[in-house]
Amino acid sequence: MSLYNLAVMISGSGSNLQAIIDAVENGSIPNAKVALVISNREGAYGLERARKHSIPNKVISNKDAAILLKTLETREINGIVLAGYLSILPPEIVKAYNNRIINIHPALLPMFGGKGFYGIRVHQAVLASGVKYTGATSHLVDDGVDTGAALIRGVIPVHDEDTAESLQKRVLEIEHKILTQTVKALVEDKIKDLSEKPKIILNSIDREGALVFAKGLLELGRALTETDNGD
Ligand code: GRF
Repeated sequence: MSLYNLAVMISGSGSNLQAIIDAVENGSIPNAKVALVISNREGAYGLERARKHSIPNKVISNKDAAILLKTLETREINGIVLAGYLSILPPEIVKAYNNRIINIHPALLPMFGGKGFYGIRVHQAVLASGVKYTGATSHLVDDGVDTGAALIRGVIPVHDEDTAESLQKRVLEIEHKILTQTVKALVEDKIKDLSEKPKIILNSIDREGALVFAKGLLELGRALTETDNGD
């Protein structure tokens, strides 16, 4: 059986990329290979992570659509993961890889998404709004900004003492979990199931609040799942 070739696109630290590399290496995402890492920024630490694992890597601007497409085709890429890629993917790529591109966003979409909602700004907006829960969403990529079908949402509580930085740190942990699960679904050709019935994962640090939240979701007819390490 031939391996599913993943391209991971990044702009910065690449901790989500690392989570994917680790999941592929430890067998949590079987039958897959991180075949290419593309950064739109020189010096992104994610490129160093790719080099450490001998993964081919390139710096390509999102303005060079033809070069991007050619590179993806040459490497026989089957699906693309945007993992902290802070640029808009050219429409040619979105079209060529329709329903085979996923993104991770550090909030519960459709809230706190769209133009201008990236990095620490997302968490600042979450705190300013006073919401009690935040989290991350994996979704399909379409021509809009953060508008593709949601696939998995991971939920965490917002605490009174939280700062934008502490939220960012805890959200990143849940990003790693839901992104690897979403990549597994991509490799197994199960994205359609998720887009029809998006999954919600509760991280019950705040068990009581999570139970109330879960009950509300069940009443809405949403599917729930447990995180794999039981937390
Ligand atoms: C993540 O919060 C991701 O959701 C956002 O940018 C951050 C990237 O983190 N789009 P990393 O580069 O994966 O560490």
